[in-house]
Amino acid sequence: MKKIVAAAFVGMVLVGSANAAQTKDPRLELMKDMRTMMDAMEQIQRGGLYSSTEDMKLGVKKLQGTLSSLEGEEVKAILPKDQVYAYKFAQKTAQMLRMYSDDMIVSIEAGRMDNALDDYTQLLKQCTSCHMRIRNW
Ligand code: HEC
Repeated sequence: MKKIVAAAFVGMVLVGSANAAQTKDPRLELMKDMRTMMDAMEQIQRGGLYSSTEDMKLGVKKLQGTLSSLEGEEVKAILPKDQVYAYKFAQKTAQMLRMYSDDMIVSIEAGRMDNALDDYTQLLKQCTSCHMRIRNW
């Protein structure tokens, strides 16, 4: 595990210096966004378990901060080229993530934790459904 992390780090440093003046590698950026989304989901879940609506809302904001890259053309960098529907599917899941995360804020502010939990489940479903279809997880 340590080795993988070290290799990834070296890779990033190399890519970073080679591309310093150019645009960033969209693949690396998207993988970074994926990890941010995972952090965000963890934060939402922790917030829910500790009854911290503040943490939940921060997690939602973090999640929403990454959605534009999932919605845009750059997502194609991580999608399989042989699946025509993949891009449309990505846009649809991004839309759902936006909708349920907006709804979660509304639910939290209304003190409806049961609804917020439903929203969380729906969010997680979007992650899994894309991973299962596209990544074959
Ligand atoms: C539109 C499709 C799609 C959606 C939606 C999606 N992912 Fe991903 N995710 C991917 C793909 C594709 C990969 C892996 C690419 C690869 O391994 O080549 C990935 C990889 C990841 C990784 C591994 C990152 C790494 O460093 O290797 C994590 C963590 C992750 N996703 C979390 C999430 C979470 C959390 C959500 C939901 C909030 C989510 N993803 C939603 C497509 C998606």
